[in-house]
Amino acid sequence: MSSDDASHENSVTAAGDDDQNKINTSRRYFLIGATAAVGSVGAVGVAVPFLSYWSPSAKARAMGAPVKIDFSKLSPGEMLSPIQAWRGKPIFIVYRDEAAVASLADQSLDLADPNSDNPEQQPEFAKNPTRSMRPEIGIYVGICTHLGCSPKYVEADNFADSRFGGFFCPCHGSKFDLAGRVGTGYPAPDNLPVPPYRFESDTVVVIGEEGGTA
Ligand code: FES
Repeated sequence: MSSDDASHENSVTAAGDDDQNKINTSRRYFLIGATAAVGSVGAVGVAVPFLSYWSPSAKARAMGAPVKIDFSKLSPGEMLSPIQAWRGKPIFIVYRDEAAVASLADQSLDLADPNSDNPEQQPEFAKNPTRSMRPEIGIYVGICTHLGCSPKYVEADNFADSRFGGFFCPCHGSKFDLAGRVGTGYPAPDNLPVPPYRFESDTVVVIGEEGGTA
């Protein structure tokens, strides 16, 4: 399957607005990993989506207005990465398959904050092994907690010294698992932030508001 076969269109909309920006979204993250395996680069980010245009509500989003994201076309094993989706920051939405969810309960991983004890990094509802409201859907702010680069998705097999797959920060090498938890010994001091969010439906999430589940 080519990467194009797995690309979809989802949408991101300022919550409460009718305008809608189409975004060219995700490829299967394991396909990205496969691409990396045959290439010379050990870490390749997920397909970088783009907003086809900015609506007037972009300013409202930059000011921190809630943002509604439709991830209905996302399947297990895929990640959606809307750029500048909320407060000018990228939001990662990962649809983890069963194996990925199970791997996050592995207590043998060497993580800096495995139990999400730093209350600054996630709402209370995300203080669990998947750091999410729904185990299969992970939602993270895609900004490295070291100096603010945007991490890329990687598979564990693409790192000779990797203990887990997840996200790799290309700037100084920090690694995060699929729940956004940083490994020990890396420059990033904290796990990737979990934004406040609520599910408006099974496949629509509002970033920037809390309360309510699908
Ligand atoms: S900015 Fe990510 S490791 Fe430095």
